[in-house]
Amino acid sequence: MQNILVIGSLNMDMVIHLKEIPRVGETVMGKLHGYVPGGKGANQAYAAAKLGHGVSMLGKVGNDDLGKQLIDNLSNVGVDVSNISCQQDETSGIAIIYINEEGDNSIVVLPAANSACDTDFIANNEEVISKSKIILIQLEIPLEAAYLAIRLAHKHGCTVMLNPAPAPDSIPDEILKLVDYLTPNESELEKLSGTPVKDVDTAKKASDILLQKGAKNVIATLGREGAIWVNKDGSKVFKVEDIEVVDTTAAGDTFNAAFAVGLSENMSIDEAIAFANKAARICVSRNGAQSSIPSRSEIC
Ligand code: RIB
Repeated sequence: MQNILVIGSLNMDMVIHLKEIPRVGETVMGKLHGYVPGGKGANQAYAAAKLGHGVSMLGKVGNDDLGKQLIDNLSNVGVDVSNISCQQDETSGIAIIYINEEGDNSIVVLPAANSACDTDFIANNEEVISKSKIILIQLEIPLEAAYLAIRLAHKHGCTVMLNPAPAPDSIPDEILKLVDYLTPNESELEKLSGTPVKDVDTAKKASDILLQKGAKNVIATLGREGAIWVNKDGSKVFKVEDIEVVDTTAAGDTFNAAFAVGLSENMSIDEAIAFANKAARICVSRNGAQSSIPSRSEIC
């Protein structure tokens, strides 16, 4: 049995470096950094495996070379890929990623085969879900499929982690009530709570709104400020040591996977967040998505 099941997207990332991310109507010159395996779901599965944990992934790729490369990259680090299926007559997901000089990014996702990770596919994989301990879900697959996965995971007594990325306008309270750990970044927290997030205090207020809607724990990642954990008993900020930021792509994915690994290894929530901060800190110091994710031995 694999302890952690990641349900989500696989994309090939086309990474473009440029001085500044273009504004509407602007044309800028960029430099192609390369094609790197990515996708929020695949990144999280890859990270859990690199951190030395048994992990399986449920998702879809297209019937093309990219799909094969995406699966191979996961398989090479030990992810159980037997639940990733190939969607006939579809291409694999692609993400176009702009990285500016500060290492911050803007991402456009073309979901393609990820759209076929739909409610039928999830329903057909209920048994895989039922055999897992922790389910890690993001929102680059159809929303209704993600929500069904959450319902099934809850029904089978799994710990449910929802990384609400990209964030929809809202998540039904009925779904939030089934989520054990909701892990937005600042912009996702702002969108879901409907209140501005500018610093730790406003992140706490926004997290409280999501707790009132039903989430049991909100663990929000705050970039260079680290992370904040908020639940009914209070809140705690977890600072992260400074590091030179090269590329923030997959930092949130690495954080989520490391947190899940920590929980699965019976770390306390405090320990698991500290562990996740360390892993994400290394990730931002390197280029690319899966290419930037650290191994267990790099995190002391
Ligand atoms: O979280 C980073 C990921 O978002 C990238 O790898 C890209 O594929 C998009 O899904």
